[in-house]
Amino acid sequence: MSRTAHVALLPGDYVGPEVTDVARTVLEALAPQADLTLTFTELPFGGAAIDAHGEPFPAPTRAALADADAVLLGAVGGPQDHPWNALPREQRVESGLLALRAHLGVFANLRPVVVHPGLERLSPLKPEVAEGTDVLIVRELTGGIYFGTPSHADATRGVSTMVYERSEVERIARVAFDAARGRGGTVTSVDKANVLDVSQFWRDVVIGVREAEFPDVTLEHTYVDAAAMKLASEPTAFDVIVTGNLFGDVLSDLAAVLPGSLGLLPSASLGGDVGLFEPVHGSAPDIAGRDLVNPVGMLGSAAMMLRHALQAPDAADALDAAVQRALADDPTVDLGGTRGTAAFRDAVVDALAVPTPARTPR
Ligand code: NAD
Ligand code: IPM
Ligand code: MN
Repeated sequence: MSRTAHVALLPGDYVGPEVTDVARTVLEALAPQADLTLTFTELPFGGAAIDAHGEPFPAPTRAALADADAVLLGAVGGPQDHPWNALPREQRVESGLLALRAHLGVFANLRPVVVHPGLERLSPLKPEVAEGTDVLIVRELTGGIYFGTPSHADATRGVSTMVYERSEVERIARVAFDAARGRGGTVTSVDKANVLDVSQFWRDVVIGVREAEFPDVTLEHTYVDAAAMKLASEPTAFDVIVTGNLFGDVLSDLAAVLPGSLGLLPSASLGGDVGLFEPVHGSAPDIAGRDLVNPVGMLGSAAMMLRHALQAPDAADALDAAVQRALADDPTVDLGGTRGTAAFRDAVVDALAVPTPARTPR
């Protein structure tokens, strides 16, 4: 019997609507063959919502999310000189994104970084260094310095506070250890415990969770500066990385370029009743409206939605495989290929028609 799922689509700004349009078209092509009925509601969010409603996460959008099985978000924000950025911080686009994550309670942000066999040439690293890269970054998303108080600035001083409660560290550590069990069996916890009390606390709690609940998983610890270096020089040293909100933000943009472009990286944010799925990249105002945005990160996020929120792992595998086939055939312009956004979308839809071999779930 066909299953029905309702997706809240938040296109956002600049390239955001371009990538969500691609995702919708591809999902609509995929749904019948996966025996899925998908319905979509487009909701204002981000800068577009500031223009239409005076705030980035308006009440009607918030209310409509209650009916959704999953939320698919494009990207939000404007160029640095946009009037949206002159608003007080709490009214800005980025604050709306943090409010959305907090509202959904999605504390676990999964950012997989894979250099696929045969696509090593797309990496800016030497192919032999990039080969075999398969890292899952588990970023804590609703705590840490992004949400800690006090937080304020005046003419003489700026203050932000990094706070982690025991329960927050325990639950994100569990997500990472659990993921490691289904993969390489190793978690690297990234912190700055040589300097920050909050990081020493993080490390101690992660060690405790492993000892009590996951003794079969290998746990390593790396300082964030060394982790950045190692991600760029020896990415295959990592299996699952678990880290706080700010370190995870920085490391995931670094890791995102290992496969070749920031535009490739998907994410899933889980832990609440409704999952949030968004590419790691931003609204890329510099390339918006020119058929240049790489939709792969968005399509990967749609696949994660099928896998994690809509219980459709076969459809997720089919989508991932179609994207890989299109990439191998001729990638997008940012990767040195010739395809624009629309041509790549069409290639993925065509590739969906080809039966796919079963793949190992990640
Ligand atoms: P960005 O990720 O938008 O762009 C960084 C660079 O990568 C740009 O040169 C851009 O052209 C390129 N790029 C990004 N995505 C690409 C894609 N899919 N295909 C090809 N090239 C791509 O980061 P930024 O310029 O620092 O930020 C722009 C705006 O986006 C800001 O307002 C920022 O706050 C916001 N932002 C939003 C999110 C989000 O919505 N989740 C994430 C990051 C940044
Ligand atoms: C991301 C983005 C956001 C973050 C910004 C836009 C608030 O950079 O999703 O990585 O820092 O979390
Ligand atoms: Mn980021």
